[in-house]
Amino acid sequence: MTALGCFLAVEGLDGSGGTTQVALLADALRTRGIEVLITGEPTRTLPIGRLIRQALRGEEPLSDGVLPYLFAADRRDHLDREILPALARGAWVISDRYMASSLAYQSLAAGFDYVVALNGRFRHPCLTLMLELDPSTSLGRVASRGEQRERFEVLETLQRVHGAYHQALAWVQEQGAAVAIIDASPGVGQVQAAVWAAVERELLS
Ligand code: TYD
Repeated sequence: MTALGCFLAVEGLDGSGGTTQVALLADALRTRGIEVLITGEPTRTLPIGRLIRQALRGEEPLSDGVLPYLFAADRRDHLDREILPALARGAWVISDRYMASSLAYQSLAAGFDYVVALNGRFRHPCLTLMLELDPSTSLGRVASRGEQRERFEVLETLQRVHGAYHQALAWVQEQGAAVAIIDASPGVGQVQAAVWAAVERELLS
């Protein structure tokens, strides 16, 4: 059975290869004749996502206390304008980060329960794929890109985010939504195969 209008989220620490895997998974689904919308959070074209990206680059001096609200507002806007309309027309949607990112990253400053309160009523993906990477490998990959570091990209912070991610994924599962944890440490092709196996097992069989 092919599930119609399926919503997938790809999660992981910075440097875990989410953007690459989203593109590869979309290609694999498209070759099966499935319409796929690739998207992500923070959004790139919607106004709240643009503001968040400015804040993460340090261009807009917004405190950690403001970010949980902005991420939640961006998510609501993203659902309303892009995700839900695509699902309604029968497309699959793959989001590079979604709710579990807020539960992981914003919990550090705001506390887990508070972030759940802001996000808990949003639609769950039919599958959340967690690209699992240890924090020091994550940091090494980010450093090797040579990009300007964003707010969360220091080792101690990533270690705390990593712990919160696992709490977040346990919570997502408690809500009845499926989660697959994929080892993101091998090469791209091996990770791609594991992602595909999880999608086949959970959604296409
Ligand atoms: P990221 O996916 O790394 O963006 P880019 O494609 O530019 O690499 O996301 C930017 C940062 O935003 C990343 O460190 C995780 C963080 N983030 C949150 O803190 N909360 C959220 O809810 C989301 C979606 C992202």
